[in-house]
Amino acid sequence: MIRDVQDEILRLKQEKDVCILAHSYQAREIIEVADYTGDSFQLSLAGQKAEQNTVLMCGVHFMAETVKLLSPQKKVLLVHPEAGCPMAEQVEPEFVQHFRKQNPEYAVVCYINTTAALKTVCDVCVTSSTAVKIVQNLENENILFLPDCNLGDYVQKQVKGKNIKMFQGGCPIHAAVRADDLLAAKERHPGALVLVHPECVPAVVELADFVGSTSAIMEYGKKSDAKEFIIGTESSIAEHLSYMCPDKRFYTLTKKMLCPNMKLTTLMDVYNVLKGIGGLEIEMDAETMKKAKKCIDEMIRLGQ
Ligand code: 13P
Ligand code: SF4
Repeated sequence: MIRDVQDEILRLKQEKDVCILAHSYQAREIIEVADYTGDSFQLSLAGQKAEQNTVLMCGVHFMAETVKLLSPQKKVLLVHPEAGCPMAEQVEPEFVQHFRKQNPEYAVVCYINTTAALKTVCDVCVTSSTAVKIVQNLENENILFLPDCNLGDYVQKQVKGKNIKMFQGGCPIHAAVRADDLLAAKERHPGALVLVHPECVPAVVELADFVGSTSAIMEYGKKSDAKEFIIGTESSIAEHLSYMCPDKRFYTLTKKMLCPNMKLTTLMDVYNVLKGIGGLEIEMDAETMKKAKKCIDEMIRLGQ
């Protein structure tokens, strides 16, 4: 049955000239029908390069917005209209405008997990895979980093000569993991390497063998000679890696690492949107498009 739906999706996307993008936190059966999968940064580039006129985003709202900002001429649909990242809603543009008035010497760096409205008032956005490089390359010594203070802390420890102020926000899924959870996972799997996402709290990051974005964790797991890994990011990653490397073992750090928003999209949602049912078309006013795009263009310029 799943295979039949997948075959029909593959046929429909060809017939309707549609590109399907899927973040790596999506379910296996969706990843299998996508044209591109990857982390937030890779998906922004893939959306821009896609030759099709319509792009379906299997992920969360800010990811679909990013694709639309980079490809305004394309029709971009978020497959599940309610799939939003709670972190993206943590900062209002007014906060940044107020901060800028009081601190004109600061560059404002936002995580890509933010709304387009917030990006209109920031200098550059970053993803987990590009944050260190971009912050290091900025001319300003003083930087406001928002909304994820855990990613901000990770960046601060990697860069030199920067004064970074942080907003106290973050991902409710990654930030919920405690050092005790990690120690318990290590007790269950004593020989395993621990790979975590920088959205985790510093106490967890400090205990890890490797810290990186979703794609960096996957690359590490694939290339490493080790045979067992504890995966400290959304639980899909351990599952995808298990398919990719059947001779290795990948364990989710804790069962808490399940993002309900990333898991809203189903294979049948993808099928229905291709049939013209459901989905949310991304639309923004011209001013938002222009200003938010500048923030993303800077990320691509400084992050490649
Ligand atoms: P990356 O895709 O950049 O690793 O980010 C993880 C995430 O939580 C996306 O919502
Ligand atoms: Fe947002 Fe965290 Fe879910 Fe990613 S995993 S979409 S950052 S809530």
